[in-house]
Amino acid sequence: MATLRLGDTAPDFTADSSMGTINLYDYLGDSWGILFSHPADFTPVCTTELGTAANFKGEFDKRNVKMIALSVDGAASHKEWIKDINEVQNTTVNFPIIADEDRKVSDLYDMIHPKADSTLTVRSVFIIAPDKTVKLTLTYPASTGRNFYELLRVVDSLQLTANHKVATPANWEHGNDVVVSPAIPTDEARKIFTKGVEEVKPYLRMTPDPTA
Ligand code: BEZ
Repeated sequence: MATLRLGDTAPDFTADSSMGTINLYDYLGDSWGILFSHPADFTPVCTTELGTAANFKGEFDKRNVKMIALSVDGAASHKEWIKDINEVQNTTVNFPIIADEDRKVSDLYDMIHPKADSTLTVRSVFIIAPDKTVKLTLTYPASTGRNFYELLRVVDSLQLTANHKVATPANWEHGNDVVVSPAIPTDEARKIFTKGVEEVKPYLRMTPDPTA
């Protein structure tokens, strides 16, 4: 098991899940993917996270992103827990939760950090592009629930910057001004970005979000 880094190929796997046997690459197809781990079933923070993820599914669908969760408990346990999540979060969990009882996927993705906990996964997030490269890794402690608005924001940034020669500044959200790629000279940028380019510094040029 090696640490996965940005640009690495997300390892494929076949595993049991709350929705039966699942193969990562078949499941993702040509979509983007978010793979995120949970320390254990029937735990409070995880219950809020999975309910929130289910309630955000419409937003991820709009962006062609498929979610896949993981915890080291079994599929029967996941199915019982999903009933609780649906009840208390007023939702329907509508994506698979991998049943990683043998820690095969957790090891493949380096989701167990022994000095944090020797058996349970930390809260990892991997955003996977349609070409199966890893585009984002995040690691949260077990005691901190993730921010799903931030995951949507990163997907928006990744999808924008995949198609336009821009980067997104601090706290950017869809529709805000973006940064012109440093590789483009300002005179060329003014031809590409017809909504206008503001040269704040020679190395800091802003332009309206080309997709907004
Ligand atoms: C939780 O999901 O609430 C949780 C899981 C493991 C450790 C601490 C909290």
